[in-house]
Amino acid sequence: MNDIFYISTPIYYVNSHPHIGHAYTTVATDVLNRFRKLFGSDTYFLTGTDEHGQKIVESALKSGIDPQEFVDKISQEFQDMWPHLHIENDQFIRTTDPLHKACVQQILQNIYDQGEIYLKEYEGLYCVGCERFLDESELVEGNCPDHQNPPQLYKEQNYFFRMSAYQGWLEKELVQNENWVYPGRYRNELIQFLKAPLQDLCISRPKSRLKWGIELPFDKNYVTYVWFDALLNYASALGWPDGEKYKKYWPHVHHMIGKDILKTHGIYWPCMLKAAGLPVFKKLVVHGHWVIGGSKMSKSLGNVVDPLAMKDQLGVDSLRYFLLRDMSFGEDANFTEELAVKRYNGDLANNFGNLLNRSISMSRNNFEGCVPPLGEAGEVEENLRNSFIEGVKKFQEHILAFQPHRALEHVAWLSSQVNKYIDICKPWTLAKQLEDRERLGTVLYTALDMTRILVGLLDPVMPEKMSEARKSLGLGTGKIAFEKLTPGLLEAGTKMPEPKPLFPKMKLSAEEIISSEVTQNGKKLNTADENKEWFAFDDFQKMELKVGQIKTCRKLEKSAKLLCSEVDLGEGRLRSIVSGAAEFYTPEELTNRRVLVVANLKPVKLMGEISEGMILFSDDKGKLVLIEAPDHVNPGVTVR
Ligand code: MSP
Repeated sequence: MNDIFYISTPIYYVNSHPHIGHAYTTVATDVLNRFRKLFGSDTYFLTGTDEHGQKIVESALKSGIDPQEFVDKISQEFQDMWPHLHIENDQFIRTTDPLHKACVQQILQNIYDQGEIYLKEYEGLYCVGCERFLDESELVEGNCPDHQNPPQLYKEQNYFFRMSAYQGWLEKELVQNENWVYPGRYRNELIQFLKAPLQDLCISRPKSRLKWGIELPFDKNYVTYVWFDALLNYASALGWPDGEKYKKYWPHVHHMIGKDILKTHGIYWPCMLKAAGLPVFKKLVVHGHWVIGGSKMSKSLGNVVDPLAMKDQLGVDSLRYFLLRDMSFGEDANFTEELAVKRYNGDLANNFGNLLNRSISMSRNNFEGCVPPLGEAGEVEENLRNSFIEGVKKFQEHILAFQPHRALEHVAWLSSQVNKYIDICKPWTLAKQLEDRERLGTVLYTALDMTRILVGLLDPVMPEKMSEARKSLGLGTGKIAFEKLTPGLLEAGTKMPEPKPLFPKMKLSAEEIISSEVTQNGKKLNTADENKEWFAFDDFQKMELKVGQIKTCRKLEKSAKLLCSEVDLGEGRLRSIVSGAAEFYTPEELTNRRVLVVANLKPVKLMGEISEGMILFSDDKGKLVLIEAPDHVNPGVTVR
């Protein structure tokens, strides 16, 4: 493939620190870009930071520093982080770069000169989190659905871009060009959105309200709306209008974005490009979101995952692998450290790592530390080679179709096929008989040769680990060319150093699970008591907590402390439950109260009475207070 490939990530807002969502987009872009390079394309990979707008000013104010100092600091955090995640971007753009500013002003002037920008009085609902005006129809109970707070009402004179004029054109493009937006359901979302009349886009903010932005070239009292400024980074970075890079790469531009910014990229951006006379992008590639242990990632929930802390726990390459393998491209996926460790142990330690280790060790032990010669190959070798020839093609197709998860699933399958092959051929048995030596050589050569191909396929995802794997196979550190990823090209007699396990099995400690969900900037949150014996969420889920209603209650004659209640748990019968609350409550006080009950505690006999659960009380230094459920929650309802 000798084509040209230009891919961008969104430029990230610098109002908060980088998190695992940013890391995912950038890693996925990096991986796809590295694959294109491997396939022989001339590639360009752009990322950067989005530094203007109200949101940034508000964050700077909160930090007590001026916006420029603030954006410099956070932008640097992004720039510093990428090498730690093995990101190989060609350029990092900042919207505060003078060249970018000049480009935005030039394009605005051009569109203004064409009469496509006009001034009018406007009243609208602005969400600072989204940095855009919202339609009434987008609100849920008066709130922005993404940021869960009410937008602010602004009434002011502003400049507008005649976006409505492009509605027909855009609709036609989207309908005609099936591959313009991937996955297709996001294209459908855009087509659906265009069923309603498209509004003109407000592209300015009065300086009286917001100074932090790029001044409009035709009115010094205004700055440019942050999205109009930000989207143009994709072209300004290349030196629009006559930079060499622009001429070379622009016709091949692919934008990778998360689904949260579909509207700005799928509606605003093509209209802006059309108006400015730039060719529209070749493809918009949209991925889903990582949710953390089932909930949306948010600062207020304290579950924002810090990529660097995660990398320290899993290793960079294993983290990259997990991100790409576990998110079906375009869909949402759940992120927990437990899932990441499971994936690591399954795919990397037990499957691929084991294959690499055992094929090298057995070859070294039986063939003086070298790759054995390939003897006569039988049907089983032929079949394996064919699945690899087919497999490499399929792999490439999945990558070109922006389905890295399927490509990696295929690699895991190929790897398990080689492991199966080894198990069937039993080289350890062949090694015992001298007359089986040729066969032994064939089996081990085949296993090593297939492993070499897998190393080549995994290289863009795990560059550091695969460089080590190449060394272990005696291949040196240079990357394996894509054309060489075909069976039979491993050289017999190559010396292989003693292998070090590349993917030792990982243990998941309970403490690690917790820290994965509550770390930020490498610091653990909510884990004040380091010596605490944590237990996992799965263990918590084993407990059945229910709302119950105490129907009758009596004192146990033989005890001063115990009460015995009959409790309705919505089961069609009453349970007998003994509790040690007689010193704090009379039976009458407890009767009819709605309580919380541990419903799956093993039944026991206390003072001759069966107790089939536990009613929950708070225990303040021995003083018990009943924990009540509200009256409108019915007996039998689950408590989480
Ligand atoms: N500055 C704008 C983009 C302007 S592009 C011209 C912006 N920045 S952002 O910092 O909020 O980053 C949004 C992007 O971060 C998403 O589109 C996505 O790529 C990534 N992610 C943010 N949260 C995410 C998840 N929970 N999961 C996966 N990626 C997500 O919007």
